[in-house]
Amino acid sequence: MSIWRKKPIAAYQADAKKNDLNRVLTRWGLTSLGIGAIIGGGIFTLTGIAAHNHAGPALALAFVIAGIGCLFASLCYAEFASVLPVEGSAYAYAYGTVGELFAWFIGWNLILEYMMGATTVAVAWSGYFTKLLHLFHINLPEYLINDPVTYGGNAFNLPAFIITWVITAILVKGIKEAASTNNIIVIVKVAVVLFVIIAGSFFVDTANWHPFIPAEKMGEDGHLHFGVGGVLTAATIVFFAYIGFDAVSTQAGEAINPKKDVPFAIIASLIICTLLYIAVSLVLTGMVPYNQLDLKAPVASAFAGAGIDWAVYLITIAATAGLMSVMLVMMLGQTRIFLGMAKDGLLPKNMFGSLHPKFKTPYKSTILVGFIVSIVAALTPIDKVSEMCSMGTLLAFAMVCLAVLILRVKQPELERPYKTPFIYFVAPMGVAFNVFLMSQVRENTWYAFLIWGTLGVIIYFLYSRKHSNLNKAE
Ligand code: ALA
Repeated sequence: MSIWRKKPIAAYQADAKKNDLNRVLTRWGLTSLGIGAIIGGGIFTLTGIAAHNHAGPALALAFVIAGIGCLFASLCYAEFASVLPVEGSAYAYAYGTVGELFAWFIGWNLILEYMMGATTVAVAWSGYFTKLLHLFHINLPEYLINDPVTYGGNAFNLPAFIITWVITAILVKGIKEAASTNNIIVIVKVAVVLFVIIAGSFFVDTANWHPFIPAEKMGEDGHLHFGVGGVLTAATIVFFAYIGFDAVSTQAGEAINPKKDVPFAIIASLIICTLLYIAVSLVLTGMVPYNQLDLKAPVASAFAGAGIDWAVYLITIAATAGLMSVMLVMMLGQTRIFLGMAKDGLLPKNMFGSLHPKFKTPYKSTILVGFIVSIVAALTPIDKVSEMCSMGTLLAFAMVCLAVLILRVKQPELERPYKTPFIYFVAPMGVAFNVFLMSQVRENTWYAFLIWGTLGVIIYFLYSRKHSNLNKAE
């Protein structure tokens, strides 16, 4: 009974054939899901901190660096998605190439990416929603919009809790409803980002871009800020803004033509968002001197500063709606990864593998995910969950880059509808980039990450190894 046993590629191809999910997603529907998952809290909030504290006008450069790193990972994801068009994403890719325990471990970390990603965004949504209510002179009591760690006492983040259940209900109802809701939100979100770029460009003062990389200096916190090091720190912060392009690979089971369209959508959504992000960064740092950028709502505040007050309403409404689609795709992705793991026997099939007789959705696991996300979002501070989300994602990205290389060497003859270009350069660069970013994360997050990982390995040995389909076959 080996922890290195691999699921044969032919078994994946057979799984893909007897897929019970509804195949309704087109090439652009998938790309829209990718954009829906990517554009969110990162661009609407983190840009302020990244430019104000770390990169200055070189925020755009930080987005370029993080974008190139993600591009390496996306090219590797795309090849895998074309070979293994099933819903398990990085988990499935590792199971077919590296072995069972690695695959389990990746799946375990994807929980951090997807569930903690959705949780982070639920809390960010609550912040924007509160701001929106405030614009209309409605103020909720503080103990209903904060978590007890930050606020103390019996605080409970009610908007974060409620929005999670709204998204859960949409997801239980069906992929078609989820995709249509997502499409509408993506149109609004991209339109407002384009508005920010075009309208904002009229207010750019190029003097604000000089010096492009402010000189390094010691901050009050005892750490160095700005300079080249500051740009790298900013790149690790804005990495969160790119998380989500890989979520497309969890929808292979619902794609009409997964072998071609999933790779296309992964790369297209990432490139579109990278270009939008670079343009927004240039406009923002051109409109406002970087040391005056707002830390919480930099985009809306830049327009308020320029005297276009109505744009504040527009941007706040779009951000509030936009964050909902990030949650939608993240929670959708999580349940599809669980489904892949349950099909292989690594998770209980009854809970994670059974589909609703009418809606054809994994409703039990969707409700479980909704329950966990809603409770954690209501009770935990945002920075803790977002860092765990980035850690899980970075490890998954590094593993995918490694696994795609292993598969190329071991099974060069395999049919690959999409091939990663310059794989012997792209894959090692992807591994190096993601491991480097992991090394930049705070020490406390590393401890939490190690505890999470240990828990995962224990569950594997207590449950998954015995119940695995491959174990029964052996
Ligand atoms: N990329 C997503 C966001 O920025 C997770 O909200």
